[in-house]
Amino acid sequence: MKKHTIFLILIVFSLFFSSCKYDFILPEVVPPIDNGGEPISFATQIAPIFAEKCNSCHSSRVPIMSADVAFSQLVPKYVNTTNAESSTIYTFATSGSHYAKVSASQGALILAWIKEGAKNN
Ligand code: HEC
Repeated sequence: MKKHTIFLILIVFSLFFSSCKYDFILPEVVPPIDNGGEPISFATQIAPIFAEKCNSCHSSRVPIMSADVAFSQLVPKYVNTTNAESSTIYTFATSGSHYAKVSASQGALILAWIKEGAKNN
């Protein structure tokens, strides 16, 4: 009986301590974009983000941003260069409400590219 009691106390204590674990969720720190004074390149910096995060669906089912889809379809429809933050391509990629979410730094890069005029470079 005594052994059992000690055993029980040990279990209760271990449960108590193992449940007291805090998981701090820190927001991802986004360093300022340093592109070495160069404009952000759609072909080498932006398209690969969409290829990684979006093209599993978008290259075939909803072909809006695969490498082979004309850039000219993407920009007029889903990019707003006068109000970059409201661009569908940016809000869909960063809000988390549309299937896939890019990282905070990828989002910052997309936003910076739009602010630079969303060029096909
Ligand atoms: C799991 C599949 C899937 C993934 C991954 C996905 N999408 Fe989509 N996307 C869809 C479907 C389906 C639609 C059409 C229906 C809708 O709007 O939900 C769509 C539509 C869109 C539209 C058009 C909205 C409109 O109103 O015309 C945009 C822009 C878009 N997606 C952006 C993205 C971006 C950016 C990513 C990557 C960060 C992404 N999607 C990842 C499935 C996906």
